[in-house]
Amino acid sequence: MTIPPLGSECENQSTSVPPPQKETRTGVREIIIDWAARISDFKPTVIGFDPNRASRGTRNTYDRYASGFDEGKGMSDLITMDDLTNEEIIDILDTAEKLLPVARGEVYAPLLQGKVLGNLFFENSTRTRMSFEAAMKRLGGDVLNLSSVGSSVAKGETLYDTMQMVDGYSDIAVIRHPKQGAAQYSADAVDIPVLNAGDGAGNHPTQTMLDLFTIRQAHGTLEGLNIVLVGDLRYGRTTHSLSHALVRFGTKLTLVSPESLNMPEEIVGDLRTHGGDVTESDDLQSMIPEADVIYMTRIQKERFPDEDEYAKVAGIYKMTADDLKVAKKTMIVMHPLPRVDEIDASVDVTGHAHYFKQAFNGVPTRMALLCRSLGVKVPKKVGA
Ligand code: CP
Repeated sequence: MTIPPLGSECENQSTSVPPPQKETRTGVREIIIDWAARISDFKPTVIGFDPNRASRGTRNTYDRYASGFDEGKGMSDLITMDDLTNEEIIDILDTAEKLLPVARGEVYAPLLQGKVLGNLFFENSTRTRMSFEAAMKRLGGDVLNLSSVGSSVAKGETLYDTMQMVDGYSDIAVIRHPKQGAAQYSADAVDIPVLNAGDGAGNHPTQTMLDLFTIRQAHGTLEGLNIVLVGDLRYGRTTHSLSHALVRFGTKLTLVSPESLNMPEEIVGDLRTHGGDVTESDDLQSMIPEADVIYMTRIQKERFPDEDEYAKVAGIYKMTADDLKVAKKTMIVMHPLPRVDEIDASVDVTGHAHYFKQAFNGVPTRMALLCRSLGVKVPKKVGA
């Protein structure tokens, strides 16, 4: 694959080019970036970028074996949910469950002692960055944190060059970037495993894994549920990855958004083409009685090209405890967080509120993902 230059600027991804699709091993077509079509969106800051170098990292296979890395088992990126089969998803969720006492700090299990995580955040984060760091440290590993501020990214260093440093300094990288496609670009540029922690309005697969963990924890299954995704489904990368995964488990999906923030047509079409039972609406209240999960999302102000367009939809869905009087007792309210005003504090004290538990679930789930990508087997009984 030829990799185009990707600069260190953080401008919004153009939405003018319809994304192409590829057939994937899981049956649902993943929406992917056509680099050739989008090349004009990327402005390299370093002249002389050599795309032919980009598929090679700085380490060779010998280095990997010399450091005890099991190439055959562990080398594993996670860029979109298509990188995981349903069986692998269930296996990771089971592993995360075993790791719950470690995540809570009740048991010490230094399974990742000697391993180093490069935690790269070119866009703001509280939960994803901290829960990856907590996961690594609870498992005895170390973390190198990098953000745009305070690093040489501010001097104009390219993502490609930055990734070469990370490849040399760490065993695995987690990357969040405002540009859709940046995680795949980074993974192609290095040898170490790369986990996508959110790429623009693209995907957020590690969030999907903790979302699935939370849903299964509450309902005991991922199958046959009625799940309502609400809010900014156009720019909301959490819902793009989550809808993809849920359809694969036979969930009935209702997409609730104002028309201007509808889920991109190519994603909805794809979900339906592959058997997804998907309904679209702009009315949240009428969906509450039948829902098993209501997944609220923030309107992604930072991704709007125009402030006036944001103003038209800001505050459009505001859930209160009163609204939930008609809900099933077992219905859970989720939110990837941060929330702005879409869930009133009155919901926090109801039995429906699962969003803080969901945020905590990022720790065991990300522990399981780190172990998997690093080829570290988690014993049946952790800490024994
Ligand atoms: N859910 C989520 O991605 O939160 P952060 O932006 O705080 O990481």
